[in-house]
Parts: sequence; C-alpha cells; structure tokens
Amino acid sequence: MTSSEIRKRFLDFFAKRGHAILPSAPLVPKNDPSVLFNTAGMQPLVPFLMGEKHPLGNRLASCQKCVRTVDIEEVGNHKNLSFFEMLGNWSLGSYFKEESIGWSYEFLTSKEEGLGLDPKRLYVTVFEGDEDAPRDMEAVEIWKKFIPENRIYFLPKKNNWWSPGDNGPCGPDTEMFYDVTEKGLGDLTHEEYVVADDKGEVVEIWNNVFMEYEKKDGKVIGKLQQKNVDTGSGLERVTMLMQGKRNVYESDVFAPAMEFIELNTKGIPDERSARIIADHTRSATMLIADGVVPSNKDQGYVLRRFIRRAVVQAKNIGFSYELLGVLQSGFMAKYEDVYPELKENVDAQKEIFNKEVEKFIKTLEAGLKEFEKGTDPFILATTYGFPIEVTEEIAKEKGITIDRADFDQKMKAHQEASRAGAEQKFKGGLANTSEQTTRLHTAHHLLLKALQEVVSPDIHQKGSNITEERLRIDFNFDRKLTEEEKSAVENKVNEWIRQDLKVVKREMPREDAEKLGAEMEFGVKYPEVVSVYFIEDVNGNTVSKEFCGGPHVERIGTLGTFKIQKEEASSAGVRRIKAILS
Ligand code: ALA
Repeated sequence: MTSSEIRKRFLDFFAKRGHAILPSAPLVPKNDPSVLFNTAGMQPLVPFLMGEKHPLGNRLASCQKCVRTVDIEEVGNHKNLSFFEMLGNWSLGSYFKEESIGWSYEFLTSKEEGLGLDPKRLYVTVFEGDEDAPRDMEAVEIWKKFIPENRIYFLPKKNNWWSPGDNGPCGPDTEMFYDVTEKGLGDLTHEEYVVADDKGEVVEIWNNVFMEYEKKDGKVIGKLQQKNVDTGSGLERVTMLMQGKRNVYESDVFAPAMEFIELNTKGIPDERSARIIADHTRSATMLIADGVVPSNKDQGYVLRRFIRRAVVQAKNIGFSYELLGVLQSGFMAKYEDVYPELKENVDAQKEIFNKEVEKFIKTLEAGLKEFEKGTDPFILATTYGFPIEVTEEIAKEKGITIDRADFDQKMKAHQEASRAGAEQKFKGGLANTSEQTTRLHTAHHLLLKALQEVVSPDIHQKGSNITEERLRIDFNFDRKLTEEEKSAVENKVNEWIRQDLKVVKREMPREDAEKLGAEMEFGVKYPEVVSVYFIEDVNGNTVSKEFCGGPHVERIGTLGTFKIQKEEASSAGVRRIKAILS
C-alpha cells in the first residue's frame, strides 16, 4: 500500500464515521507565538479541545504537516525525520474511549477499510495511574475485547501521558505498537516487551490521548469542561511498516529521492549523508511552501539550517548542488495534490530554495579558496565548517595528501580545550552527551548568567562538573546565598526556559570572542579558534555567551523546570551550587 493510499484510507475511514476532514494547517502556527512549528496534529485545535465550538462539528480528522527539530542531529538514522505527516482523529466532547479504541483497532486490522495488519503482532500500552489520574482500567477493559490481556502493558506518565507543552489540554494515552521482526515475537512479559521496544523490534504506530485534563505551568490542575480524544499516527512510519521496510528511506516516501541521489553520486553514497539530504530537502520544500524564507531568526533560521546541512552533505558525497533543486521539485510534485500550496508561486518557491543554496555555496567556495592557499584543514573545519571528509575528498582530486593524524590530534585538542575550558570537565569525557547531560549543560550556562544578573556581575566560573542527574558549578563569591537570592536565580532561569530561547553556536578566532566579552574560565588555555555558544531571545538579543565545546540543546524550552538543590562553600571565596532539571 502506498503512502497516498494509507493517507486516503485513514481520512475516508473517519469521514465515514461522521468526522469532518480538515485540510492541514500551515506549518507555522497562526496565532501561537509559543511554538515555531506545528509539532502535532492537535496543535491547531487547542482552542477547540479547551471548549470552543469548532465550525465543522465535534468529530474531526486530518493529515497535518509537522516539523520537529529537537532531534535534528538524529536525522539520518532509520526513523527520525524533521518533517512528517501526522494522521489524527478528534472527538471534541463527542465520543470517548470506547469508540476511539474500537476504531483504531478496526482501522489497523480491517483488510477492507483499513491497513489489514496482523492482530497477533499488536501490543498496547496504557497509563498505570498516579496522583493526577487513576490507572486506566477503562481502556484495558475495552482493549480486552480485541487483544489478549497479556499484551497490554501498564506504563507511567513518562510513556503514557501526552501534552503539547506545559500549558493546555492533556491526558493519559494508550499507544499501539507493531512487531516488525521477521519471526514474530509472540507473547511477551512486561520486561520482555520493554526490551523489545528498546531494541526497535516493536514500533509505535498510533497514540490515542484521552484529553480530559488541563495543565498549567507544568502541573495537572484538573479536568476540562469536556472529554476529548486526540490521536496521532505518523504516516511515514506506518508506510514503512506496511511496505515491510525497516527504515523510512526505503519506503515510497523517500525511495525515489534516495535513488536519484544514488544515481547522481559516484559509487554508493554514504547512507547517512544521503538520508540527511533527502530529509532536509523535503522539510525545506514544505517550509518554503508555507511562506518561510531563510533568515537568521526563528523559522527562517531553521529553514536555513536545513538547506545548509543538505548542501554540506551533498558536498560530502559529491552530489551536485544544482540537483538539490531537482529534488525540491520532485517533492513539490509528489505532494502537490495533498498540499495545494505547493502549486502556488512555484517559481518563487524554487527561487528561494536555489538562492539559499547558491549563497551558501559561496561560503563553501571561500573555504575552498583557503584550501587552495594551503590552509590547514583544521582551520577549514573550525572556521569554514568544512567537514574533514569534504577536505579529504577535494584533496584527493587534486592529488594532495592530507595529514589526517595531525588533523585528528588538533581537533581533539581543540574539543578538549574548549570543553574543559568553557565550563565543564566531563568526568566521562567526550562520550557523555546523553540528552539529559546536554540539557544540564545548557542549564549550566543559564545558571551562571542568572547568578551574574541576580547576585553579582563579578561572579565567574571556577570549575564545574555535570552528570546525568545534576549539574555543579563553582564560582567566586564570599558568602552564603540567601533563600531569596536562590529563588530569584531559579525564577530567572525558569523564565528564560519558558521563553524558549534559542542556542546558537558560532566558531570564531579566540581574539574576537574575547572582544565580545564571552564568558571564559579563568586560567584555562583556549585554542586559536574557539566555539562560542550564544543563547538568544526572539529579537536576536544575547542573553548569555560562553566559550564552550558543547553540546547544547537548540531551544531551551525543552529543559523542564530548573531547581537549585544545594548551595555550599567549596573553598575560600568559592561557592558551589548543585542543581537539577525536572
Ligand atoms: N497528540 C498526540 C501525539 O502527538 C496524539 O502523539
């Protein structure tokens, strides 16, 4: 079954059950400055989930364009995409769990009207209950009509509760997973199921949220005036599954683009590079169709990143830049019947894309000139953003040998110095870049800045350490902080998190960074070229700037709630704070 058929079947199925079919809202939300993009089908429907009357009734369904950039670095693995289509159906105070679960099961398994999936390969998770809402026995009782009880697993809020953010409608959910192994996993105990999920042997295919609660500032505050259902199913993932593929790039969504890239690259291209080119070009195509233009701010900045990353990867595998435009046209044609905006101002859309590609090529070209002059590949990498693979490839064409060992050594020293220097001496070394550590790392920058703003501008960092659980900072100050000061610092950091500030990394000569007054740790030796992390508000004003090797989150809205756990003396004139994110 093709992705187009799946999309159509889904919408037809729910239309037949009394749902009005909504066109996808634009990727950039109209009246909601709190998010850059729609990241779920329900986002344009928030006012209606909160109780406002929808002009088309209380049963709705759609295929919504979504962009998620939190895990852009993960793009290139088998399932993370920066743009995706979410199939969803909604009840705005109309039906609830009975119909919602029944229809999901029917759509997944019916050969005539749905996907005809094998019921023996389905697993289901439900909310296990906590102080906010009871264990969802109602969902279990309904599920038991369709699948054996031993394939229904209770999981905590972390897994089976959904909300679009810290404020708004939310609720427990039930999620459906499909066994993608060749042999079939059969019955699984709770533990075995969790392992299978970790290993990617079962894939989430649908999420039904029973949205009857409301969240305020991250806390569940009570029930909404109506019981809603909000469901979401990733079209690309379902397509992969239906076509018996283990990765989305082999399904009909991406296969033509991947083939085109392969055909136009010498030899077999690096898989990850080819995937990034395909994913990012598709996302850029969709953003441009919705009126986004490349810039250094907000949505425009995300678009710019997509295009530039695609160009670098194209360079990396020797895929001609001009052909990126052909890929864009391919995606426009593929989706124009579903998203008619792709048919409007076609030439302008192509021009925006191609211009940005050309502009970035000039930067790349400047780097290439440096290369001709014999500039060190290390400077090319750190100042011009040239991946070493690109430099090596060009060198090979010109019969020049690159001293890779020298490069690796400089790069290592560079990373170590900027990491150690800028703020943290990771005990676990460079490998410690888990999500939570990365979050704490960004929170560390915010904390230092808040201490300077709230307590004293003369505070600077004297040492630091970050683990999975907490961050620690040592700083010069000669007395205990008061309770008021501590909570003012916490509030400041949490206020920034609420504003969802952006984190931007810029490579620059050390001297320039010093001139800018970027925060650095006293007594640490920095290399010639350093990276500086800027945390900026929507107007591009800098909140914090620090010499640092990273990694950091891209938007700080994902950090959660910042809390100081302990404040104590570390040595004479030096205080120590331990803090967490929850
Ligand atoms: N809004 C829910 C999700 O995105 C359905 O998973």
